[in-house]
Amino acid sequence: MPDLAAMFAQLAQDPYPLYDMLRSKNRVLWMDDGERWLVTGHQEALEILRHDRFSSDRTRWDNYQPPTGYDRGAGMFTMDPPDHTRLRSLVQRAFTARVVERLRPRVEELVDGLLTEAEARGEIDLMADFAGPLPAIVLAELLGIPAEGQESFREWATTMIAAIDPVSHSVSAERAELGRQADTQLSGYLGEIIEKRRAAPREDLISALVAAEETGDRLTSDELLDMCILLTVAGLETTVNLIGNGTNALLDHPHQLDRLRAEPGLITSAVEELARFDAPIQLSGRVPLEDVEIGGQTLRKGQMVGIVLGAANRDERAFADPHRLDLGRTPNNHLAFGRGIHFCLGAPLARVEGEIAISALVRRFPALRRAGDPQRRNNPHVRGFVSLPVALG
Ligand code: HEM
Repeated sequence: MPDLAAMFAQLAQDPYPLYDMLRSKNRVLWMDDGERWLVTGHQEALEILRHDRFSSDRTRWDNYQPPTGYDRGAGMFTMDPPDHTRLRSLVQRAFTARVVERLRPRVEELVDGLLTEAEARGEIDLMADFAGPLPAIVLAELLGIPAEGQESFREWATTMIAAIDPVSHSVSAERAELGRQADTQLSGYLGEIIEKRRAAPREDLISALVAAEETGDRLTSDELLDMCILLTVAGLETTVNLIGNGTNALLDHPHQLDRLRAEPGLITSAVEELARFDAPIQLSGRVPLEDVEIGGQTLRKGQMVGIVLGAANRDERAFADPHRLDLGRTPNNHLAFGRGIHFCLGAPLARVEGEIAISALVRRFPALRRAGDPQRRNNPHVRGFVSLPVALG
């Protein structure tokens, strides 16, 4: 088997035939070159994500090498209970479904504004002009970043995210250095806001995080900063790619696009199906804390287990006709937002943004179509587009 990252990079256009091939060999497959297991079966992935003997802490991997370039720890993402439980429950006190629902009218307004600007131009790059800006503005406003700081916030966050590569460690030294600088600037800026909100709270997520308390426990200033950075890293690129991959899938399936236009009420199940069909996060990882048998294989303590969410989402044992896009698919037990104790904390926000963005795009532009070749991002972990040209009128 070739090197895992190289294999995925080659197949950035369409990894799904490869996933099928791997799954047909074994749903839990040992990759000699990659020195890891690859799990492509839905049931097997689910079992691991819910299992309490699998760690999210990558340093538990026997072959763990600290990244040589820029490394921004992933906070809660890579923590296990009880540390994970403590942080997660504190954040959940602040980042509630109510907070997200309150954002709905504002997201509608932002989508409207971006699409009005786009309409005036006729042709746009969906990534640069719509899918990219929306989640960044929403997250900045949610955190409580003042309007004048939002452009810098987005620039620093984008540069920092571009330098993070937890899978293949293939980021150039130059990009890693830019990432480190952006991290320093963003951390300094967020740190100042945290201190300001501590002194004078407002109606924003940073103030709510400052105040979040459980049985006398609170987030420290360092934890708070790490959490804001984690929300930024976890929440931007992913939502951008949900909107980009989702729109691309609709353009590839005109009958489904027409169906959504005819039945706008389908949008909730449509977003779930678009997340399943071309998941923004393709790969997650766990390390067994003891030998565990899954899918007839013994996963040994300290081995790396790659959970291919994108493959589990196309498993014929879990989804009827898995390669068909069906916006009304029910049930739809996809793993695009993970499962178990690390289930995506931002899923309600991503869903609200995805629903509003995609339904407005489809509703406002009946003639929506491609206006050039889309360019895929060459990343096996985060699946999305660098550019997706579309014509609106
Ligand atoms: C379509 C958009 C999104 C997708 C596909 C996505 C996907 C995921 C997945 C697969 C995980 C689990 C990773 C694992 O188990 O190893 C996760 C966790 C997480 N996500 Fe998301 N995410 C999205 C949007 C967001 C947003 C908007 C935010 C916040 C603003 C967010 C914050 C988080 C956090 C904090 C975690 C870690 C939770 C924990 O460790 O307990 N995500 N996400």
